[in-house]
Amino acid sequence: MKKLILDVDTGVDDAMAIMMALAAPNVEILGITCCHGNTPLQNVLKNTLRVLKVCGRLDIPVYRGCAEPVLAIKRNAGDFHGKDGLGDAPDPDAPGLDLLNKRNAVKAMIEIVKENPGEVSIVATAPLTNLAVAAQLDSSFPKKVKSLYIMGGNTDSRGNTTICGEFNFVADPEAAFIVLDRFTCPTYIAAWEFSCRNSLSWSFCDKWLSQDTDKARFMQKIYAHTRKMLKTEEFQKEMVGVFGFNSCDCYALAAAIDDSVVTESEEVAVTVELEGKHTRGMMVLDQLDLLKKKHKAIIMKTADKGKFKKLLMNALE
Ligand code: BDR
Ligand code: CA
Repeated sequence: MKKLILDVDTGVDDAMAIMMALAAPNVEILGITCCHGNTPLQNVLKNTLRVLKVCGRLDIPVYRGCAEPVLAIKRNAGDFHGKDGLGDAPDPDAPGLDLLNKRNAVKAMIEIVKENPGEVSIVATAPLTNLAVAAQLDSSFPKKVKSLYIMGGNTDSRGNTTICGEFNFVADPEAAFIVLDRFTCPTYIAAWEFSCRNSLSWSFCDKWLSQDTDKARFMQKIYAHTRKMLKTEEFQKEMVGVFGFNSCDCYALAAAIDDSVVTESEEVAVTVELEGKHTRGMMVLDQLDLLKKKHKAIIMKTADKGKFKKLLMNALE
């Protein structure tokens, strides 16, 4: 069994990733830690519980994490994910926040990893604030994590939020910097351009959503707004010329479930620009090894789309 903590800012694509993890028979989810990001933290918490309810898994502990970035001005992606972060398709019977675990997400993360040293992988599909604060609070924490799967950053000096920055890194550049600096475990990065280049066809998306299940009907509802946005001219500019169904958070998750989903990757030291007027939050790849960093990240390049589609289909079955 693969032991995972999911660090999320649920978010339509985070919802897809959570559902993918829940459907995987080889995965044990030890907890879901919530972070600000796509939508204010309060919505992230509600949305995460809604996803667990649809999947009948409210037994999984959900933790309240950081509501603010370390230093950056708080932002969200309400235009893309809907004001509530889940497509503005509310559920009148949504579970209440009283179901949240009482422990704080950062402390819970540290404790869970401490109880299972070297065994727990973390899949982070949100700004990296919770992970960075955990590393600051307990410097032994990053050393005990088995592996890290991050959806975030950019590889071609272009992004989806600023001229050259991807949302999760731009939303908390200092946190991304700290995490890429402190964690020495295998660190897999599904950057923005990778997810665009490996996006799927809209006809697959139709097939995926038309499964006759409550999970598929839920996804249809929450995804309608984002799907419309993905087809606008403005958004298509962000997609590095590949206009398809892009479920970026699911790539980080899929790699954690089955490493053969990633068929080609590159090992390179990475860091994050913290100062540039136009480049703050941009991921920088040290191809020339000028930083002399011992630890290299594993940058995903190509994916086995067949395997990925299967994991997506299973998520809504
Ligand atoms: C990332 O930012 C968020 O909008 C998504 O949930 C994803 O994690 C893409 O840049
Ligand atoms: Ca996300």
